[in-house]
Amino acid sequence: MDAQVFKKRILSAAQPSGNLTLGNYLGALKNWADLQKDFECFYCVADLHAITLKQEPSLLRQRSLQTLALYIACGIDPQKVTFFIQSHVPQHTQLSWVLGCSTMFGELSRMTQFKDKSQRHADNINVGLFTYPVLMAADILLYQANLVPVGDDQRQHIELARDIAKRFNANYSETFTIPEAYILKSSARIMSLQDPTRKMSKSDPNPSACIFILDSKDEILKKCKRAVTDSEAVVAADPARPGIYNLVQIYSALTGKSAEEVAAEFAGRGYGDFKAAVGETCADALAPVREEYARLTADKAYLEEIMKNGAEKASYIAQKTVSKVYRKVGFYQPR
Ligand code: TYM
Repeated sequence: MDAQVFKKRILSAAQPSGNLTLGNYLGALKNWADLQKDFECFYCVADLHAITLKQEPSLLRQRSLQTLALYIACGIDPQKVTFFIQSHVPQHTQLSWVLGCSTMFGELSRMTQFKDKSQRHADNINVGLFTYPVLMAADILLYQANLVPVGDDQRQHIELARDIAKRFNANYSETFTIPEAYILKSSARIMSLQDPTRKMSKSDPNPSACIFILDSKDEILKKCKRAVTDSEAVVAADPARPGIYNLVQIYSALTGKSAEEVAAEFAGRGYGDFKAAVGETCADALAPVREEYARLTADKAYLEEIMKNGAEKASYIAQKTVSKVYRKVGFYQPR
């Protein structure tokens, strides 16, 4: 008899709150694709999270479908992984409530992303923005995920998910797998091309600061050429020179070369050469994604089929966890 081999599980998500960037690609989607053969993967479009900031409803609807198309276009195979839209699986909000009762106000107050976003959106510091990391913990713990591939900006949220899981397990007996963050060094934090002390972010109002996954080759080359650097004109992996360091990280993540190898490759050459090489490499990596995306978005029925099947499968697994949790906390369940 064949021994059934159980693969470890992965859960990750991105918010459909804007056009996805090179930061999302290198920090998340590219790794999601690389991990799909060795893990059982669940990749989610986090629309519930997206409404913590103001969204235009028709645009959110459109972006949810487009984000799913982009996942597939990045080489993630719908035959191998489960894709779903967060709001299609009601167990996320159900578990979030219970986990909220195992999360301390002080813990959420310490979340740097909450502090940062509430400063930037002072007119809309809603409760959802505050409890956001609890929903994110529910996303992960529902699937008993072992690993969560993300960029460095999500590290603190995953630490919190671990703390919540451990606390729940200690209070109610073993229930949740304790997840681990999976963060690659070279692509952990891709920075803005215009202000390399800040993260490249899809919500940046300055489009020159970001390379979008769907940018044309021309746009990519131009943005790389204009990227803010310094006057030293020596390509080096030196964090004290954030502009050039960022470009080295990007080139390194795209080519698989170490930062030292990149510095050696461009020794004695100016920034102009290096920026052109970063732009070309980036455009070459993203061209097939853009082509595949155009093909996929022309077939809405196919994408809807994937999201429906995915929601069904995700829901089946998520319900097992919710039932277990409801039983453990003492919610009455008639036979
Ligand atoms: P989001 O939508 O901001 O980003 C999606 C993924 O991209 C990574 N990322 C980056 N990585 C490197 N450099 C950057 N400049 C950069 N910008 C973004 C993010 O770290 C993330 O991995 N809260 C999450 C979405 C989420 C989630 C989850 C993630 C909801 N539930 C459960 C993991 C598990 C977010 O806002 O990602």
